[in-house]
Amino acid sequence: MKKTYITTAIPYVNGTPHIGHAMDYCLADVCARYHAMIGDEVRMQAGVDEHGGKIFQKAADLGIPVEEYVAENTQKFKDFIYKLGVHYTDFVRTTDAMHEKGCQEIWKKLENHIYKAKYEGWYCTGCERFITEKEYEENNGVCPDHQKPYERLEEENYYLRIADFKDRINQAIESGEMVILPEFRKKEILKLLADSPDVSISRPKEQLTWGVSVPDDDTQVMYVWIDALANYITVLGYPEKDILDWWPAEAQFVGKDILRFHAIIWPAMLMGLGLPLPKNLVSHGMVLANGQKMSKSIGNVVDPMEAIEKHGLDAFRYYFLRHIDTFADSDFTWEKFDNAYNNELANDLGNLVQRLATLAKKNNITINDELKFELPHEYTELMDNFEYSKAFDYVWAKVQDINRKIDEEKPWSLAKNGEIEKLNTCMIGLIDELLNANNMLKPFIPDTCKKIEKVFADPIMPPEVPLFPKQ
Ligand code: MSP
Repeated sequence: MKKTYITTAIPYVNGTPHIGHAMDYCLADVCARYHAMIGDEVRMQAGVDEHGGKIFQKAADLGIPVEEYVAENTQKFKDFIYKLGVHYTDFVRTTDAMHEKGCQEIWKKLENHIYKAKYEGWYCTGCERFITEKEYEENNGVCPDHQKPYERLEEENYYLRIADFKDRINQAIESGEMVILPEFRKKEILKLLADSPDVSISRPKEQLTWGVSVPDDDTQVMYVWIDALANYITVLGYPEKDILDWWPAEAQFVGKDILRFHAIIWPAMLMGLGLPLPKNLVSHGMVLANGQKMSKSIGNVVDPMEAIEKHGLDAFRYYFLRHIDTFADSDFTWEKFDNAYNNELANDLGNLVQRLATLAKKNNITINDELKFELPHEYTELMDNFEYSKAFDYVWAKVQDINRKIDEEKPWSLAKNGEIEKLNTCMIGLIDELLNANNMLKPFIPDTCKKIEKVFADPIMPPEVPLFPKQ
């Protein structure tokens, strides 16, 4: 059995989960369910990023001990993942003792590539990122994402010598050893890599104490990104355990905003540890509201729980995984969500199930043969390339096709004319097609698929209430 490991970015717990966070979880969940369906043994990680200046500051502003603050918010993220119907096998908190110990071991193993030097430059606590002079000038000293002036730092830091790995990372990306998706991001990353200086990987405790201590140096904590990236392997038990059964990951899902950390610092760390690189770095786009970035100050933040309450979990997963493009930035609007629910889920799928099941029951159609499910290569190709919204479109076209066929083949007329054999063949053919489409929908809307399977089990029973009542 092939072992497949899938990871999600671990969000900062400096607030409550929002719709953007759902993207990593939902995409990884589709990936995990698809791989389980094709027979792999799957492990999927999720977790939370609890360290760093941003979180420390937020807890201080609220007057809450930081440990308490992160514990409270971590629980909210766990609840959130559960409500999305997402199943992980491993959960990591970056404050876990095992993770912290793992980070320190990793640091020691990287020591040949680490040196201490003075950092004089800019930092954005909102981004938890060191800012180059060029970016500082381009943005006139103000972070465009957080609308806050960059902070000036003058401190002693440890650095990771990216120069030691640049050529090999470049080659791994060019050769497809580590695939970056979507393809057009590859060029951006190769350029960033070529210009990448060595990266600062620690902060003095005088400035920040909330992090993992640097081994054998009481004055420094690790830069939050070193600690965070390490989660993908510490959660597997590295370095205590041999992780090569599971590592390298089949896919690591990240937002486009954090691809640079995963495509430069992370491979450098892995190479320094002598570990293989992930097979695929899948970077998704941003979820927008009416074409705009969501922000609390604009007041356009969409709460996914409100969406789930409105039309149900699978309606949310449907919209999110089909109409939010896997790779491009896409809008969430209530109007589009309502339309998708009523016109697509209720009309295309809900009605189809109701119509077919009712006709089948009325005419005593039974499915004798074991139906065989075959995944068409168009579908597997899209799924294997992480083109999930396109794969979903492909299946939906099948669903619409079945609707068209019912109208063309008019099984009710066959019944009326007593053409029993023809009626049987027609109905079994249509049900077979529906169940095949249903099979392909399983990674996306699993609860609905279970209900549809139940409807078409023996004896066929039309749902008492429509699967998606019109609203
Ligand atoms: N803590 C880091 C990740 C460390 S991974 C080793 C971080 N956290 S985050 O909370 O800012 O973002 C977590 C994930 O949510 C990222 O993949 C990010 O791209 C994603 N999203 C946050 N807002 C988003 C949208 N509006 N839309 C889609 N995804 C976005 O970065």
